[in-house]
Amino acid sequence: MVGNPINYDDKYVSGTPIWGNPKLDFYLKRYISLLSGKKVLDLGIGEGKNSVFLANNGYSVTGVDVSEKALEICKRYCSSIDFVNCDIRNYQIEKNHFDLIMSNSVLHFLHKDDVCAIVQNIKAGLVQNGLVYISVFSVDDPGFMFKENSGDFCKLDNGIFYRELDDTYYSYFSKAEVLKLFSDFSTVFVSDEFGLDLSHGRPHFHGVIRYIGRKR
Ligand SMILES: C[S@@+](CC[C@H](N)C(=O)[O-])C[C@H]1O[C@@H](n2cnc3c(N)ncnc32)[C@H](O)[C@@H]1O
Repeated sequence: MVGNPINYDDKYVSGTPIWGNPKLDFYLKRYISLLSGKKVLDLGIGEGKNSVFLANNGYSVTGVDVSEKALEICKRYCSSIDFVNCDIRNYQIEKNHFDLIMSNSVLHFLHKDDVCAIVQNIKAGLVQNGLVYISVFSVDDPGFMFKENSGDFCKLDNGIFYRELDDTYYSYFSKAEVLKLFSDFSTVFVSDEFGLDLSHGRPHFHGVIRYIGRKR
């Protein structure tokens, strides 16, 4: 495990939703019927974008986030979620337990070695036929080029950046890399998108790899 977790507390301090209103996103809506059980784990739950909807619709959701403020906001939307305030790298996922494990827009805030370790834990934590849903920034994300040209970041190998200021790592992925991470899973959906993000703040672009896979 290397570096600190990203600190989002400054962003969450206003107490108003910063990632847009919590709702089930298009991708989960499309594939949720594949789940045979209702146990869900959200790694980096934030304000509970997908989890609040699932918890309010009969799913048993555990949400992990290092930001206490994020969990406070999420709790206001839905108190029935089982909240865990810790770094996802330290969270011991119960083995063969969850029907769905998701991590939406979180893993790119870590070094790829830590991401690999978390992916192994996700695999062990899913029941057979359980689903994983992750989204990560792609190498086409504007943040990649920004970091390449910023004096604050040091470019390491393999799409990884380091910021000494707060001892944090950032990782950018290719679709092939994500597929390789889950090569022992059956791919349900994968995409490599570059698009406008209107969900929060000023309109801006992101490059995102989304992956939904099924444990064999
Ligand atoms: C961009 S937000 C996404 C939140 C939510 N998944 C969503 O889709 O709206 C990233 C969240 O991940 C959390 N996070 C980042 N690194 C983390 C870590 N190492 N352990 C736990 N939470 C982390 C942040 O605190 C933040 O709430």
